[in-house]
Amino acid sequence: MDQLVRADSRRPAGLGRFGEYGGRFVPESLVPACEEVERAFAEAWADPVFHAELHHLLSVYVGRPTPLTPAVRLSAELGITLLLKREDLTHTGSHKINNVLGQALLARRMGKRRLIAETGAGQHGVATATAGALLGLDVTVFMGERDIERQELNVFRMKMLGAEVVPVTAGSRTLKDATSEAFRHWVTVVDDSYYCLGSALGPHPYPWMVRQFQRVIGDEARAQCAGRLSAATPDFVVACVGGGSNAAGTFAGFLDTPARLIGVEAAGGAAIGAGRPGVLHGFRSRVLQDEHGQITEAHSISAGLDYPGVGPEHAYLAETGRATYVTADDAEVVAATHRLARSEGILCALESAHAVAWVLRAAQDGTIPQGSTVVLTLSGRGDKDMATLMELS
Ligand SMILES: Cc1ncc(COP(=O)(O)O)c(C=O)c1O
Repeated sequence: MDQLVRADSRRPAGLGRFGEYGGRFVPESLVPACEEVERAFAEAWADPVFHAELHHLLSVYVGRPTPLTPAVRLSAELGITLLLKREDLTHTGSHKINNVLGQALLARRMGKRRLIAETGAGQHGVATATAGALLGLDVTVFMGERDIERQELNVFRMKMLGAEVVPVTAGSRTLKDATSEAFRHWVTVVDDSYYCLGSALGPHPYPWMVRQFQRVIGDEARAQCAGRLSAATPDFVVACVGGGSNAAGTFAGFLDTPARLIGVEAAGGAAIGAGRPGVLHGFRSRVLQDEHGQITEAHSISAGLDYPGVGPEHAYLAETGRATYVTADDAEVVAATHRLARSEGILCALESAHAVAWVLRAAQDGTIPQGSTVVLTLSGRGDKDMATLMELS
């Protein structure tokens, strides 16, 4: 644990290793590109001018700091104090914008003129299209055909913002295939294009860099708790886990506290719960695979969580016991979305509702003892999921 806290404040060991996870498993042709990104990020992260520009955009454009909203009625019903970190209130409607603005500023600093991205739920694609428009960079987004159908609204938003959306027809036609295709494309245009990855995964330095850009969530939440909770730090910190960026950013603010860190995966996409060590998209982590090591398909009602891998830092936090990973299934996620809407007037993303579903269950079965304080990151708002929910009702 000490080792991780020390690594966390600077950078992971070696080639981006979190214990046995992480690393850089890419074709020879992409090694210089990853090294260029690593060098540029290390320099930028140490440069106060870069931080000042990022901070400025996060406050005047994104709307940070986001509030920590007490869920008053749910808290009373559950016998706990539930505080919601409101990433759903950011410009473009999810935490993805924090990371994307950081990477887009980095791309511009590196002299790149174009951003490439993959997207599942579309939120990362929308965030990248937004940052491209803001900073005058071209944007190409790869998206699985199935997700294009599920997330029509976000596809239209990306196009409105001037991005090119490339449908991916391979495999399960979801995020895994979109990511593979985006990597393949990057190899061919690496000189003038920057690969803007949407979660805390991929080859080094992406898991480290994305977590650093997302740690603003946890750092803000920690400072906001200090003024609000008698114990200053909460008993539980809960976030949903797809690739793991919102959870990694949230946990980063609380790693050195006694808070119990809980990551909630989709029951059908539980790379930590049901995966085994393996390599996917340039990094080693826990991955869903069959007995022959072939990657198996993940399933979740939320496009943002049906990815068969998970960021390497989470695999490490699970293995060292610093964080615990649990699951929620589609039915309880839909029920949790309705309950949060009715109790608090907040329509959250289906991804975020995984975290809500677990808190509802855990408060009822005593896993979260009465009187506990819980910080839960609402990673995004639910507009994009209304069509899915309408079909179910
Ligand atoms: C609103 C929202 N929350 C969570 C996620 C999952 O990603 P991560 O685990 O990287 O936060 C996504 C991914 O698309 C998302 O759109």
